[in-house]
Amino acid sequence: MLKEEPLVLGIETSCDETAVGIVQGRKLLANVIFSSVSQHAKFGGVVPEIASRAHLEAMIPVISNALDEANVKLNDLDGIAVTGAPGLIGALLVGTSAASGLALALNKPLYAVNHLVAHVAVDTLSDEEPIKPAIALLVSGGHSSIVKVGDFISDVNSLGNTIDDAAGEAFDKVARLLDLPFPGGPEIDNLAKLGNPLAIEFPQGLTLKKDLVYHQYDFSFSGLKTAVSRYLKNNPQIKKEDVAASFQEAVAQVLLSKAFAAVQNFGMERLIIAGGVAANSRLRHLALEKGKQLGIEVRIPAPILCTDNGAMVAALGSLAVSSNATPTPIGFEAMAVSTTFAPFLGVN
Ligand code: KG4
Ligand code: ZN
Repeated sequence: MLKEEPLVLGIETSCDETAVGIVQGRKLLANVIFSSVSQHAKFGGVVPEIASRAHLEAMIPVISNALDEANVKLNDLDGIAVTGAPGLIGALLVGTSAASGLALALNKPLYAVNHLVAHVAVDTLSDEEPIKPAIALLVSGGHSSIVKVGDFISDVNSLGNTIDDAAGEAFDKVARLLDLPFPGGPEIDNLAKLGNPLAIEFPQGLTLKKDLVYHQYDFSFSGLKTAVSRYLKNNPQIKKEDVAASFQEAVAQVLLSKAFAAVQNFGMERLIIAGGVAANSRLRHLALEKGKQLGIEVRIPAPILCTDNGAMVAALGSLAVSSNATPTPIGFEAMAVSTTFAPFLGVN
């Protein structure tokens, strides 16, 4: 029998968060996140082997804590969802092995989901209204895309992507130039609050008329990173706060100009902003302001649901169960890279 409000546990281990979420239908019951970020900070980036080992150690306690938080038992579950791609392969394998083991032992369906689509699908937990088509701006540490979303099951299409660095990667690299710790996004966000966003005019990649012909919805951030590096060399006395604020402004403006253009050009009424960079306070503020001006509904998950979490995986898994999607066979292969926005892996 098809369950309208399935109880689904979602496991996320694509990078440095071991995270488990539990949802019932579109309601979030538990969201437990263990991050190994402090073990990577001194290396200036995530070390894959350290991340995998940390996932192994954290997996069972995080699952137990999530079950306690939701006040449910493993046997109550209607399905297990897990991030299958993209991500660090060793890290993904810990999550997919745990999920496959659970699905097999409990005899429950398994759904391997696309991490990128899951970032956007977490928006479905914000209300129980029917899901409306939307444009999504997906901005994380590894990806920056504009995506057209219909129903999250069969209708998710990329309109454009970054052609070099991701937005989060740009934040992390510029933070390093400013001698800020890893991960740089939250650090720049904080420092920028003390600076002037108009102090320095940094380049906004792929926004010239000639660029828009072939790259209307694509991004490029590597030129911006180089511009910040050059600016710092030529202006050693500059206030770091102003550099942080001006850099952040350039990123936010270019992301939003392209995302809102997509909403308008596709005749949509809703913009969803998701992924770790969606936690950025300036991006959130500017997006809500611009949405109000243009009469476009802007939805941005709470910051804890923007960065990697298990709730987003469970949310997409729950949509899979309630729409009777084909489960993923046990033994499917996790993939480091995902070239499409197909929501589920291992099924045709
Ligand atoms: O989605 P996410 O947690 O992991 C990936 O799937 O990549 O995104 C992590 C990225 C990092 O690059 C981090 O610096 C950035 O999101 N980030 C932020 C903020 N919080 C996290 N960037 C800007 N402002 C923030 N407040
Ligand atoms: Zn992510």
